[in-house]
Amino acid sequence: MTVDGKITTRNFSPVDFTSREDKLHLFRQRALADAVLVGHTTVERDNVRLGLPQADLREARIARGQTPYPIRVTVSNEGRIDNQLKIFQTDISPILIFSTTRMPRKFQAALREKATLHLTKSPHVDLAAMLRKLRSEYNVRTVACEGGATLFRSLLERGLVDQLNLTIAPYLFGGANAPTLTGLNKTFLPASVHCSLIDMRVIGDECFLTYRIKRKTKL
Ligand SMILES: NC(=O)c1ccc[n+]([C@@H]2O[C@H](COP(=O)([O-])OP(=O)(O)OC[C@H]3O[C@@H](n4cnc5c(N)ncnc54)[C@H](OP(=O)(O)O)[C@@H]3O)[C@@H](O)[C@H]2O)c1
Repeated sequence: MTVDGKITTRNFSPVDFTSREDKLHLFRQRALADAVLVGHTTVERDNVRLGLPQADLREARIARGQTPYPIRVTVSNEGRIDNQLKIFQTDISPILIFSTTRMPRKFQAALREKATLHLTKSPHVDLAAMLRKLRSEYNVRTVACEGGATLFRSLLERGLVDQLNLTIAPYLFGGANAPTLTGLNKTFLPASVHCSLIDMRVIGDECFLTYRIKRKTKL
């Protein structure tokens, strides 16, 4: 995020405002996880594949007993996910979609050719149930969530985040309509989330922070 806490511009367009080092940092974190998770809007707008281009990171995974690439997971309540997105053109690891039976039948049929669908009858995906399923059915122990802000906020509100890796990039974007780390939701979080700083590195003009999420407090 920028110095003023923005994660993208007002148009939600993919903004390339961090260094090569930060991108590598992202890949290193992704490489540690059994599954990588992003919200539907990020899959769509950023058109990410969620792969691991670096052979050394894949080799390190294999040495740790992991698959070469993490399982790729996305969530959507509406389920109108375009099966032409880049993620579906890359057959490197399973793709799991957690959505609801609101997903139109046409989308279900198209997506089933490329991904495994987990559809709940309730109107919203239960994120805690999703994580339980990832653990019990896919042996997933660590999930790297790469945003976006709406999904991150949902996970935070439910107490499902235990670590936050945050890069402060040397820019200010301003603008009330530019999304922050927790999105555009105008309301405060139901409870403040207390973080504990466990690591801080400065490389060039960027600051790489690692927080352990402690607990929610009423402030
Ligand atoms: N700077 C960064 O590090 C960074 C990282 C990631 C993304 N971004 C930027 O952030 C923007 C996207 O962020 P965003 O907040 O709009 O979107 P997002 O969190 O990626 O996706 C939001 C969508 O995901 C689904 N979703 C989110 N939470 C859910 C939940 N609890 N249960 C079920 N489905 C859920 C919903 O899909 P449906 O609408 O289909 O129901 C929702 O509309 C993009 O512009 C991207 O470039 C920046």
